[in-house]
Parts: sequence; C-alpha cells; structure tokens
Amino acid sequence: MSHNGINIAIDGPAGAGKSTVARLVAEKLGMVYIDTGAMYRAITWKVLQEGRQAEDDGQVARIARELRIRLEPSEQGQKVFADDQDITSLIREPAINQQVSTIAQHAAVREQLTLLQQQMASGKGVIMDGRDIGTKVLPDAEIKIFLTASVEERARRRFEELRTKYPDLTLEKLKEEIAQRDHTDETRKESPLTQAQDAIEVDTTGMSLSDVTARILEIAERFKS
Ligand code: DC
Repeated sequence: MSHNGINIAIDGPAGAGKSTVARLVAEKLGMVYIDTGAMYRAITWKVLQEGRQAEDDGQVARIARELRIRLEPSEQGQKVFADDQDITSLIREPAINQQVSTIAQHAAVREQLTLLQQQMASGKGVIMDGRDIGTKVLPDAEIKIFLTASVEERARRRFEELRTKYPDLTLEKLKEEIAQRDHTDETRKESPLTQAQDAIEVDTTGMSLSDVTARILEIAERFKS
C-alpha cells in the first residue's frame, strides 16, 4: 500500500505552516515535496538583484521566462537554485517578503510557474504547497488541504522563527505584513488564493505541528492505492 502517483495539494495563507507540514508529511509518505512559494521568491530575488521594479511588466515577464529555477531535496529541506546559484536562504530575506506578492500578481509569472509546476508533478505523485495548487496547478489532485490559522497565530509563529536573525522585527509589524500579503493574495486578478470546493479545511490555530501533521496523514490514509 503506497501513495505512488497520488498528488496532495496544500494551499493556504502565508504563515499557516504549509511548508513545514508538507515537508514532514512528504518524508513520512516517501513522496517528493515541492514548495511553489519558493519559485515565486526566486523570481522576486532575480528582479531585485537586477535592480528592476516589481511592477515592471516587461522586465518581470522576461526574468520569469529566462530564469532557470531548480528545486532539490536535501537533509536540511528543499534547496532552491536560480541559474545554478544556491539562493535557498536569500529568498527568505525581508526584502523578498515585501515584494513577492506583487511579483505573484503578474500573469506571465503565473503562467510560466504553473507550467513548470505541472511538469514537476507529472506522473510522479507529489506534495505541492502554495496558493493555487488545488484550484489551478493540480485541479485533479486526489487530496486537497486548505491550511489556515488566525493572523495573530501566524504572525506569532513567524516572529519566533525570525526574531533572533532580525532583532528589529516586531510582532505588530509582522502582523501588518501578513495581513497585507493575505489581502494581495486573495484579491489579485490571476488565480487569487481561494479554497478549492473539494478541499478539506484544517484550521491550525492552537494546534501543534505534530497534531497538524497527524491530521493530514490521517486524511492521506484514506487515499492509499
Ligand atoms: O508560501 P510563501 O510565503 O513562500 O509564498 C510567497 C508568495 O508567493 C505569496 O505572497 C503568494 C505567492 N504564491 C502564489 O501566488 N502562488 C503559489 N502557488 C505560491 C506562492
């Protein structure tokens, strides 16, 4: 009994714990994990590195077309490469957090990344997390999870993650940033963040990481082939 060939889509707002949970579930089930947010971050990194504006349609579309993004599993989690440069930690910088929602609004970026994500998943059986996986990228995924948590809880989790590295960061500032990102992701024209009709909602407010992982494994259990 295995999950070979079955796709699991995990969507939800920023900071709901999608990546951590998806990675743990993938490990447990021996599946490939694909963090699609990292791909939007990679394009954002390149746009900023070239000194372009996130609103510049032409330049952003060109970068999305040209940049070779590669994801590679490693002991420490998924590594991200852009034109063979390891940018895994660079894409988590605050400057990227602030611009990535704007980059993710470009239709050309979404088209390019959606195709790439579909190619990555084809014929394999993957766990993919993002905002539009169950609705757009893998609409036929056997299992769809919509992971949520209150803004306060999501900001608190991010704060704990980042506070030692960025001493100037405040909980209040993070809360504002997350609420702003939610708003941009939910109201954009192209593939806004919405729950797929057939997705199972898991509200992780007050749940531990191991509780959430166990809940998703329990849902996945029903779909063994
Ligand atoms: O999950 P994350 O915080 O790394 O995502 C970064 C941004 O990318 C987020 O603002 C929404 C966007 N995104 C998206 O629009 N579609 C996806 N499939 C994944 C991420």
